[in-house]
Amino acid sequence: MSIPGLNINLENEIPVYRQIAEGVRAALAAGDLSPGLRLPPTRDLARQLGVNRNTVVAAYELLATEGVVHSHTGRGTFLAEAASGESLPGAPAPGDDDWLTAFSSAVQGPALERLLSAYRLAISSEGISFASSQPANDLAPVKEFSSAMASVLAEMGASVLTYGPMAGSPRLRETIAAGMRGGGSRVTAGNVLITNGSQQALELVFRTLLDRDNAVVLEDPTFTGALSALGSLGARTVGVPLDEEGMRPDLLALALERHRPRVIYVQPTFQNPTTRVMSLPRRREILALATRYDCAVVEDDWAGELRYEGDPIPTLHALDGGRRVLYVSTFSKKLMPGLRVGWVVAPERVRDRLVALKQVEDCGTSPLLQEALQRFLEEGGLERHLKRVRPAYVERRDRLQNALDQHFPDGVHWTRPTGGLFIWVTLPGEVDSNELFLAARQRGVLFSRGELFHVGGSGRDTLRLGFGGVAPERIPEGIAVLGELIRERLSEGPSAAVDSRAEAMPIF
Ligand SMILES: Cc1ncc(COP(=O)(O)O)c(C=O)c1O
Repeated sequence: MSIPGLNINLENEIPVYRQIAEGVRAALAAGDLSPGLRLPPTRDLARQLGVNRNTVVAAYELLATEGVVHSHTGRGTFLAEAASGESLPGAPAPGDDDWLTAFSSAVQGPALERLLSAYRLAISSEGISFASSQPANDLAPVKEFSSAMASVLAEMGASVLTYGPMAGSPRLRETIAAGMRGGGSRVTAGNVLITNGSQQALELVFRTLLDRDNAVVLEDPTFTGALSALGSLGARTVGVPLDEEGMRPDLLALALERHRPRVIYVQPTFQNPTTRVMSLPRRREILALATRYDCAVVEDDWAGELRYEGDPIPTLHALDGGRRVLYVSTFSKKLMPGLRVGWVVAPERVRDRLVALKQVEDCGTSPLLQEALQRFLEEGGLERHLKRVRPAYVERRDRLQNALDQHFPDGVHWTRPTGGLFIWVTLPGEVDSNELFLAARQRGVLFSRGELFHVGGSGRDTLRLGFGGVAPERIPEGIAVLGELIRERLSEGPSAAVDSRAEAMPIF
């Protein structure tokens, strides 16, 4: 038995036992649970929710002190009969608040939880946080950017304080196009649309190409923000696992054959979360398959310039001559996420439709910020910034790797990324990363749970550690805590949680 409508959010600041208690109260008030009913045994509910049994015990104890439930030793926990028909103090009369539940499916239940989880993690500043995908905010080029901003305002005046061209600043679009031509792409400013971050670029592209229930094939695991955007559009996501060279072409071919998707979404370079870089032959194979099955490829190149070792590999966009690849990128990671400037490159026929939808969403990206960014780029600010941050990221990555070598027990595996901002960790089956997350959080350490990146809710034997935004001197301390918690769990033997590897199959 489960509790209808009970969704817990591990990233929520409300303790999980309170969320569970609230879920029971809500189900009772909604009439989804009947007075006198026996609640699920604590062990079963803990397993369903992927939390420690003591958390459920604490929730039932709280409900008992409120008189909502009664516990009988040996028989279980029952909803109180007296709760029948009674409103909780201050609760609205039945029917009064029906509109409060009349939401679109994009923001209901698990879909909402996924959106909120990712957001809360991204902005959290709790304890030692390996959870966010932030670059180093402590290294942001504040002085240089403020002088670019001041000179743009002084020279361009009110013209940057009004609405601008919907596709974005023509000069910035030309700078972006020129940069991409340097990487071998066929592109002009007319192919570029400036967006509010690449998150918006992804959402616009998906909305332009997909209708409800259309299939999209993507790497599994993949970027949570892409899963959220697709979920909110009602698209069907079909996950294809990766090997050392990126998305597996044998399984991709199967997925394409079976689902005939309109879109393949991939991050060929420093894939978030697995950090993999797709090899050149694999890039060609993926493009050949996309051509054979006639689908568009959305290439998310979020961190291409955050390379610390080796030579760059041509983008899919460059390899394909910009024919069926829609290229999405951002200034968030290589520069500053607070700019909220990203872009998408598409054939003009597609770009015009993207522009039309963007107009509906926000009437354009800030002209002031675009022109200040353009000035900053013209003056060589980005090259100087990258020269400063790359060694800092290498130092943070190496510290993290050394700390993992030192503190993580045998049986835990992790990647050694040549770029990007993360390390991807695979745990032994006995350790559940959801449960580990709660324990770590109590000790002041955060990471991203693997489940958030997986298409079908698997991945509880994985987690992502971001190093970009963590103070280097705190990295060993945070990893020592995680290592200790993992060891404790390994010594306890198999956990009650589901062995997610059994489920980690692509959803074909
Ligand atoms: C793979 C990937 N794509 C896109 C984004 C969106 O970033 P932004 O909207 O800040 O450009 C992120 C952010 O973490 C990301 O990791």
